[in-house]
Amino acid sequence: MSETGNLALRCSNLHRYLGRDEGRVHVLKGVSLEAPRGQVCAIVGPSGCGKSTLLYLLGLLDQPDEGTIEINNQLMSNSDDAARTAARGMHIGFVFQFHFLMLEFTTMENVMMPMRKLGKLTPAEMAERAHQLLTAVGLGEKTQRLATHLSGGEQQRVAVARALANQPSLILADEPTGNLDVKNSAMVFDLLTRLAKDHGQAVVLVTHNPEIANRCDIVRPMRDGVFV
Ligand SMILES: Nc1ncnc2c1ncn2[C@@H]1O[C@H](COP(=O)(O)OP(=O)(O)OP(=O)(O)O)[C@@H](O)[C@H]1O
Ligand SMILES: [Mg+2]
Repeated sequence: MSETGNLALRCSNLHRYLGRDEGRVHVLKGVSLEAPRGQVCAIVGPSGCGKSTLLYLLGLLDQPDEGTIEINNQLMSNSDDAARTAARGMHIGFVFQFHFLMLEFTTMENVMMPMRKLGKLTPAEMAERAHQLLTAVGLGEKTQRLATHLSGGEQQRVAVARALANQPSLILADEPTGNLDVKNSAMVFDLLTRLAKDHGQAVVLVTHNPEIANRCDIVRPMRDGVFV
């Protein structure tokens, strides 16, 4: 067990029901997880076992029916919407399988968007940080390119840079390499882990790729709504 102070995330006994009436499903059945800073944790398991549902809860995008979620030792599962939104912007970076970039904006504008929302930096500082992040993901030459004119792998790297924009202590990634070829998968994974380790962030990622799972510090196999 890691020291409490070193945990970016701790969740305990999470339960989640989805759907209504007869369609109501007990999707998560008591999930507990700790994510220490500087480590990459992989959640693996068959389609439908509840991985994305869990990531939504951990990212404070949805609320558990039972159980607790702490981000940086702060209990978030009972907080109101405003507190959860603020915590998300400040402490959590997301990378989704389909990156959800704003395609009609430049790479630079996409990476600056979370910084604008947080509102802590001047425009010049935001631009400088976005440039640094894009350089780190190998896109320093393409900062003014419209996202729609990037390849899938390049777009996913922009999504990684965007997730890191506000220096989150927790990075949540749902199949971040799911739509990429082998070479680009490796590049995005390496990038995510290297940047996370360099900055002492915790990464929790969902993957179906055994090679990627094998390279993570912690692997948690999930079946039918629980870790096994
Ligand atoms: N609104 C809903 N109503 C009822 N059941 C739902 C609802 N949303 C999701 N589910 C069910 O919850 C279960 C878990 O879904 P989830 O998306 O978390 O799976 P997953 O492990 O991420 O799968 P995949 O690997 O395919 O992405 C599935 O059986 C799904 O059908
Ligand atoms: Mg999923």
